[in-house]
Amino acid sequence: MDRLLTGLQPSGCLTIGNYSGGIKQVINYQANYETFLFVPDMHATTVTQDPDELRKNIKSAVGLYLACGVDVTRPNMHLYIQSENLYHANLSWILECHSYYGEMARMHQFKEKSKLHENFTCGLVTYPVLMAADILLYDAKYVPTGIDQKQHVELARNLAIRFNNRYKDEFFVVPEPLLPTIGAKIRDLQEPTKKMSKSTTNPKSAIFLLDNEKDIRKKIMSAQTDSEARVAFDEENKPGVSNLLSIYSVFSGMSIEELVEKFSGGGYGDLKKALAEVLVEKLTAIQDNYSKIMQSGIIDDALDAGRDYTNAIAKEKYEKVRRAVGYGR
Ligand code: TYM
Repeated sequence: MDRLLTGLQPSGCLTIGNYSGGIKQVINYQANYETFLFVPDMHATTVTQDPDELRKNIKSAVGLYLACGVDVTRPNMHLYIQSENLYHANLSWILECHSYYGEMARMHQFKEKSKLHENFTCGLVTYPVLMAADILLYDAKYVPTGIDQKQHVELARNLAIRFNNRYKDEFFVVPEPLLPTIGAKIRDLQEPTKKMSKSTTNPKSAIFLLDNEKDIRKKIMSAQTDSEARVAFDEENKPGVSNLLSIYSVFSGMSIEELVEKFSGGGYGDLKKALAEVLVEKLTAIQDNYSKIMQSGIIDDALDAGRDYTNAIAKEKYEKVRRAVGYGR
């Protein structure tokens, strides 16, 4: 079985964007790949975190993965926490010494995020290398993500190729990003030219997986559209409406064509009301599962098993790489 790997930062409650680019893809692929799904808690500390809040978000993220349908009873599913495996940081250091500052400074996400902080951390600069280490440690062939992480997976590809060439062996599998055809970039509900983000400061911009029914309806009904009153999919000229159609498609399984056909006679109000209904139904079901999962022992059992399994794989890979660069005796 080929390996597939992805992770979602526990830097706040997960959004419907994270569901679309990350979790939903894992659920769709989990029967066909050996799947490595982890919580990148070390990534979250590239910006300041409240430690208690972070620990709560880690467990909540895992609860949500499971509540959405990630199946940890499958022997090919490995669920783990990044910081419980020291090889991620160790390999990251080696890869940092094979990466260039210019490469890091060119990363779109770094350029955006560094603007938000007057004094950003070194971790924010080198974060994509840690992400490369996350992927390369396990020889993951496929990395499901949204479009915002594509450039980081491309960096992981470049580093794998660079390392293999420099040390003249197939140390790392060269990974490929996997983007969903619809929903690779769910947009901010208030500023639809931007992506929806869990760290938004405007509460109406994002729908979180644990939002209550009233908030879901309110946020969808107040989403920005345009003055044309014509339901059509055109991401460039009608980003707001196209975003609503994408979200609808992600959560209902209907195609964009079917949705345009269904809503073409009416105004945006009908589309919004129906979408709010779909989201309320889907997210309430996830939240019911989530409450049960959070009270069970299933999370810790899965994380213990995942930690042990992935540490063994990571150790073997790291030792091979460490030897190649000449570390130790
Ligand atoms: P993060 O936590 O920002 O996002 C988690 C996943 O959700 C996707 N995503 C979106 N997809 C569609 N529309 C959106 N608005 C949207 N917002 C987020 C992201 O693309 C991602 O798939 N660096 C990563 C976490 C990470 C990782 C890894 C991922 C660390 N190591 C190794 C894959 C492989 C991040 O910050 O994702």
